[in-house]
Amino acid sequence: MRPKRFDPGRVGHHTGAVTTISSPTNAAQSLLLHSPDGPDAAWWRHAVIYQVYPRSWADGNGDGIGDLPGVTARLPYLRDLGVDALWLSPFYTSPQADAGYDVADYRDIDPVFGTLRDADAMLARAKELGLRVIVDLVPNHTSDEHEWFQAALAAGPGSPERDRYIFRKGSGQDGNEPPNNWKSVFRGPAWTQVEVGETDDQDAATKLGQWYLNLFDSKQPDLNWENPEVRAEFESILRFWLERGVDGARVDVAHGLVKRKGLPAWDEDNVMIDDHDGEGETKASLPTNAAPMWDQDGVHEIYRAWRRVLEEANPTGDPAQDKILCAEAWVEPIERLVDYTRPDEMHQAFNFAFLTSPWTATDLRDVIGESLLENDRVGAPTTWVMSNHDVIRHASRLGLPVGSHRPNGLGPDGPQPDLEVGLRRARAATTLMLGLPGSAYLYQGEELGLPESAEVPDDMRQDPVWFRSNHTERGRDGCRIPMAWEADAPALGFNTTGEAWLPQPAPYRELAVDQQVGVEGSTLELYRTLLASRREHDLGTGGLSALEGFDDDVVAFVNEAHDGARVALVLNLGAEPVALPDGELVVASGDLVAGALPCDTAAWVLLP
Ligand code: NOJ
Ligand code: CA
Repeated sequence: MRPKRFDPGRVGHHTGAVTTISSPTNAAQSLLLHSPDGPDAAWWRHAVIYQVYPRSWADGNGDGIGDLPGVTARLPYLRDLGVDALWLSPFYTSPQADAGYDVADYRDIDPVFGTLRDADAMLARAKELGLRVIVDLVPNHTSDEHEWFQAALAAGPGSPERDRYIFRKGSGQDGNEPPNNWKSVFRGPAWTQVEVGETDDQDAATKLGQWYLNLFDSKQPDLNWENPEVRAEFESILRFWLERGVDGARVDVAHGLVKRKGLPAWDEDNVMIDDHDGEGETKASLPTNAAPMWDQDGVHEIYRAWRRVLEEANPTGDPAQDKILCAEAWVEPIERLVDYTRPDEMHQAFNFAFLTSPWTATDLRDVIGESLLENDRVGAPTTWVMSNHDVIRHASRLGLPVGSHRPNGLGPDGPQPDLEVGLRRARAATTLMLGLPGSAYLYQGEELGLPESAEVPDDMRQDPVWFRSNHTERGRDGCRIPMAWEADAPALGFNTTGEAWLPQPAPYRELAVDQQVGVEGSTLELYRTLLASRREHDLGTGGLSALEGFDDDVVAFVNEAHDGARVALVLNLGAEPVALPDGELVVASGDLVAGALPCDTAAWVLLP
């Protein structure tokens, strides 16, 4: 759905504080969109959190797959980059049918990533370096190799073991058709029939095997969240990781746990990633909860219970010790997304409306304004994000034609991004993002300007969507390529053996960390400056106002810290360079032209 037009009248009504402050420049600050937090705001309201994709960040034992000892060894890089925390995608025991989002044991580490001792060592080292650690919790489904699912298969229809999952009789005359028409997010039907014989499975009425629901891969059976045992188990898993010292969890598919009663039919394709083409209203403009498997009201009581578990883990209530939850919830509209971050639920929810915004000034202004307005309504920070392990990296995504359909992955035959334009825009987008109040997530390698790889050989692809779409959607492997650390080392320094589970494309070499560190104007140095200046000027806890006086194709705000210091954030999407307001240039995403800000460039100016 296209973000709603931002209506300043509504903001004024909401905050009761529409002010026009004259500025010494041609630009006037007006319309308070969001008030600043106090100086003692809890860490997660403004933290910058770096996503480590463990398979692809650093490989300690040289087998070609990243691991926890690799992560631990590279942690000083994150301290030097200037982030506050890291979130790691799953490293638990898993057959890796969906790169670890198919968990077979939530309380242990997959041998590919190491051991629990390695996890403890990683947590201890992060603490030493002043970095907080967020883990990934996957509650919508387990692996089919989880002991609960194996027990369910063995126990047969009607058993308490099967009731932990969503087993149903088939439809059609012989029960040989899926129970309903739901489709998997990874394509194909969302149901898998259990083979009769193999598990001695006999449905009394049909004599045919039952079906189980899998909204993702058939190796990811959905749990039944109506079952109290499931609820108790996940509270216990959360406690397990909190006791090991983690600072919180990112919650996978947080909008999927509860399904509408009766599992009513739903014809639409299931997409997590809204790929509307920006051309008016599409089917995807229905609110997410129109679909019986997403955003059902019943999910919220689960998160209220989890919030209580987190609060038990911080008995003194010291905000510096807050443990947090971040929702991965592809929920529209934003009014419904912020239900996940009400005061007694989660702390953060990824702002995917920002990530998917078309590259126009109007769309960006609208989504930023609306996000702040809606989050303020529930007292939550806004959680900005541009890239993760599920979407085309923004250095490539923003190089696709503006407003075009966004493909799921890139290959040699589909649309090709303009990489120069993409990188320029990506640097500008991040410069805008890190100037905004709230929390922000970065995805590993974006600080190097890494593009998506369109060069993964098809026979090395691993994303289940590639197989389930009958090789029509390339999927997400291209954003999961091993990290580029050193231009002249084996596998670009990912390890010392040169093995890599996915090949690094040629452009990664000159983008490696050692090619950028200390190099003026490099993307890595841009990120370091942004992160340091954001901290220095308290931008994460600042208030935000519109900055008037620019043409429509310029996005311009003032971030005003609680001590009154003001930083202008200006992003020019128009063809002509624009004059910046008077003041001290803090940082720019690209070179200025005769002192003016050119197209697809953003800058921060400390106002006098
Ligand atoms: C969202 C995760 O980010 C994605 O990688 C995964 O495939 C699905 N959830 C299913 O767990
Ligand atoms: Ca390894």
